Amino acid sequence: MRTITLINGDGIGPEISKSVVEIIKASGLDIDWDIQTAGEDVIETEGVPLPNRVLDSIKKNKIALKAPVTTPIGKGFRSVNVQLRKDLDLYANLRPCKNLPGVATRFDNVDLVVVRENTEDLYAGVEEQIDENTAHSIKIITRKASERICKFAFDYAVKNDRHEVCVVTKANIMKLSDGLFLDTFRQVAQNYPQIKTREILVDNLCMQLVQDPTRFDVLVLPNLYGDIVSDLTAGLIGGLGVAQGANIGLECAVFEPVHGSAPDIKGQNKANPTALLLSAIEMLKYIGENVYADKIEKALFKTLADGNKTADLGGSLSTTEFTAKIIANLG
Ligand code: NAI
Repeated sequence: MRTITLINGDGIGPEISKSVVEIIKASGLDIDWDIQTAGEDVIETEGVPLPNRVLDSIKKNKIALKAPVTTPIGKGFRSVNVQLRKDLDLYANLRPCKNLPGVATRFDNVDLVVVRENTEDLYAGVEEQIDENTAHSIKIITRKASERICKFAFDYAVKNDRHEVCVVTKANIMKLSDGLFLDTFRQVAQNYPQIKTREILVDNLCMQLVQDPTRFDVLVLPNLYGDIVSDLTAGLIGGLGVAQGANIGLECAVFEPVHGSAPDIKGQNKANPTALLLSAIEMLKYIGENVYADKIEKALFKTLADGNKTADLGGSLSTTEFTAKIIANLG
């Protein structure tokens, strides 16, 4: 039996994790979940929000499924999510964005992939309080990290029959840092003559995405733009409740939804488990469990196509009712 690390998270994390674990079990696939806790509650007992045991578990199992973990805003401890990605060198954040059956949105035929650099940029956490009225954040861009994320985006395009990779920067203003990312992209692109390339500034990209997202295929972006743009693209296909993601490194991979811990609906049995379930389906494909991945995906798509929806998609089903429908559709 395969052992996989499971981080239940907080906020809506435990509710959606329970749903996904139940669906996978009902599909007939036995997984030995190595459950690891992280975040604020853990500080009280272990002193830190991301204890080494969590990292050790992922390093040992190589694969993790992770529900969201709350980060205090404007103060408090450093993001567990950012630290995890950095400590495990999960350099590629892959966020595919595709219309789902039964989820009506402004655009049909959205099918694009956000490839976000995951280890540096303004997320490096290098901040300094200069005085009471001034703070500095340092944006770090290196050729090494830019090169491997651009290479990842092109390799992904080749493997997945994609035709174009578009690099997204603000290199007109940040001529050195984003300029380096752009320059590296151009160099990497030379090794992939079969893939078309495009260059766009992030503000123009946002405007074009809301006008017509079908103009885009694979997008590769530095960390901060990738974070923001992938919430925008989530909105194109029905919102955060359906937006999946994965953090991939050379040694390990952590599959997690785009969304956060949604404290506004915590404990109300309202959360949509679809984003975590889609992330889990990708995880199963990643470890070669394609039969179960396809079976669960089919059941999810049928459930949605039949009009079953949680509140975020305009429906009235609770998390547990929606989960039960998917399980019933597993056949
Ligand atoms: P959020 O993504 O948690 O919520 C934004 C809005 O989307 C809320 O109205 C929420 O109810 C809704 N939403 C999100 N996921 C949903 C789902 N599965 N079903 C139904 N509705 C859903 O973003 P917010 O409020 O900015 O962040 C809350 C916390 O989550 C913060 O502490 C943030 O740092 C953390 N966070 C954690 C992430 C992670 O663990 N990877 C990623 C993003 C944020």
